[in-house]
Amino acid sequence: MTVNDQGRFQAIISHAKEYGFVFPSSEIYDGLSAVYDYGPWGSELKKNIRESWWNAMTRMHDNIVGIDAAIFMHPTTWKASGHVDNFSDPMIDNKDSKKRYRVDHLIEGAAEELSKLDKHREAEDLLRQMDEFLAANDFVGLKNLIDQYGIKCAVSGTCNWTEVRQFNLMFSTQLGSVAEDANEIYLRPETAQGIFVNFLNVQKTARMKIPFGIAQVGKAFRNEIVARQFIFRMREFEQMEMQYFIRPGSQKEWYAYWKEERMKWHTALGIPADRYRFHDHVKLAHYADAAVDIEYAFPIGWKEVEGIHSRTDFDLKNHQHFSGKKLQYFDPEINQSYVPYVIETSIGLDRMFLLVLCHAYQEEKWAKEDGSEDSRVVLKIPPAIAPIKLAVLPLLKKEGLPEIAREIMASCRNEFYCFYEEKDTIGKRYRRMDALGTPFCVTVDHQTKEDRTVTIRYRDTMKQERIPMDGLAAFIRSKF
Ligand code: GAP
Repeated sequence: MTVNDQGRFQAIISHAKEYGFVFPSSEIYDGLSAVYDYGPWGSELKKNIRESWWNAMTRMHDNIVGIDAAIFMHPTTWKASGHVDNFSDPMIDNKDSKKRYRVDHLIEGAAEELSKLDKHREAEDLLRQMDEFLAANDFVGLKNLIDQYGIKCAVSGTCNWTEVRQFNLMFSTQLGSVAEDANEIYLRPETAQGIFVNFLNVQKTARMKIPFGIAQVGKAFRNEIVARQFIFRMREFEQMEMQYFIRPGSQKEWYAYWKEERMKWHTALGIPADRYRFHDHVKLAHYADAAVDIEYAFPIGWKEVEGIHSRTDFDLKNHQHFSGKKLQYFDPEINQSYVPYVIETSIGLDRMFLLVLCHAYQEEKWAKEDGSEDSRVVLKIPPAIAPIKLAVLPLLKKEGLPEIAREIMASCRNEFYCFYEEKDTIGKRYRRMDALGTPFCVTVDHQTKEDRTVTIRYRDTMKQERIPMDGLAAFIRSKF
């Protein structure tokens, strides 16, 4: 697997559509840019990833509880959080094509082109300068860099650029039925603020003592300008966030703890550690005193999947200021009240979904005994999160085999997702289950009628063995 393999990425996108994982939104109307729908197996896989995260964060920690806050929030929330004033990206427009670009994406694209021409030093230099200008909010410097490197618009092919400007990424809408009375409100650009404004409600009702965490999974919305790359960058997406409230001064220690803890979750899913790396932020978000990305080697390059941010007391202090309500914690151990500091872990569910697909997708070829070639496309999704865990396949549609297969379905479907299939040859059915990432198939044949054994076939090795059908659910469970 190479990093930067557009062919492989396109194959994954096609596979995701063909096998019911991800569809373009409102496709019959030619889709909606950077908005996607999850199909039968996609929604199941997404649910399993969500559950894995939720269980790891809440059930496995005595001091982390969950909430489910509304998407709409009081508009002052976004003033206090800094999103009204700061949640923007530097943009540039090409005057000929009228196409708008995020400046960092435009420059990163140019650096990628340089790398393809083996001009690695120049590419690195360009990215380093960009990072410096971004960190200093130096828009003139960014514009000069674009001019200096002669970066062209992909549509018009010209360098006829406007100045660099800021563009706010929040979607707004109106609350209220009569337009004149309506208040402008925003679709939340991050789930975190629902946690901050509920800090005291949760702390009191769940009787939490610092350090403690609040976790949440939910939709977030951003008017991304360059929203290509399939579900990597979407306008409507889902975040899984956790705010960990701590004593001021302990942020370095907890930041290190959560970096390690979150990486453990990724690798415990069965995804190799060498596909991940940490990347420290040069340009810190308006709320952070330290920040790191967990990056994965996607086929489109090393990209962020999760962020860990040391958010100080920025958010709670600002909400305290804007609301006029005290958001403090009395710490009995030190006999002091304070506004807690926060370490945040924030991962995109859709991005994690894409990561799993990229990890799982394999095209395999091998020589058969007669010398001819065979091949398959298989999704080696970690069994614990695979959409279908077990396929139950009667060899024939008659002679009592479907009845036994139905008996197996009845004994297993309460435990995990099972799929019954009696159409097509057994070979075709195996291939289809490989393409859906089903780790186990059992075939019911005539021998099953005699001795109540079935053939189990393992997705990854394609090995088969005979096992008793009684106790099958426990056997499969033991495998993930
Ligand atoms: N509360 C902090 C926060 O929102 P972020 O780095 O902007 O931080 C966190 O976003 C994560 O959300 C990212 O690491 C990414 O996985 C996901 N994410 C952000 N923007 C996204 C988008 N447009 N489409 C899909 N996922 C996105």
